[in-house]
Amino acid sequence: MALRTIRVQGDPVLNKTCREIKEITPKIRELVEDMLETMYEANGVGLAGPQVGVLRRVVVIDVGEGPIVMINPVILETSGEQTGDEGCLSVPGKAGTVTRPDYVKARAFNENMEEYEIEGTELLARAICHELDHLDGHLYVELAEGPLREVTYESDEE
Ligand code: NI
Repeated sequence: MALRTIRVQGDPVLNKTCREIKEITPKIRELVEDMLETMYEANGVGLAGPQVGVLRRVVVIDVGEGPIVMINPVILETSGEQTGDEGCLSVPGKAGTVTRPDYVKARAFNENMEEYEIEGTELLARAICHELDHLDGHLYVELAEGPLREVTYESDEE
């Protein structure tokens, strides 16, 4: 395992659309391991392929309940609304107010290419939406209401 460099806003890789993963190769397995390590080291709750410069449809999330690996994720259903603070490891030192669904149901594959469904509310719903946006080249700053704020901590960044 190795830490990967987190790309920051302004890097064009963050605005590109990612390709699906067809099979779990040793390289993909290593990518997933490295993404988890990189996310934990940065105190993030999520990380998407483009953030480490890889344009593949993979995200990792941990909202404090253990690691979640989502390969080729698709949102099946959303409901409700939550408005709250959001940050991103690719937009260091900033936070913004973003409205997201309060419930998300998604389908994805795990690191063994087994398909599963996941339901999330509150922070997990927010993290799933935020990370999946990365796979289509979108950052939360596009959705932020009002100007971003400076933050001096990193523990709530995604
Ligand atoms: Ni992000």
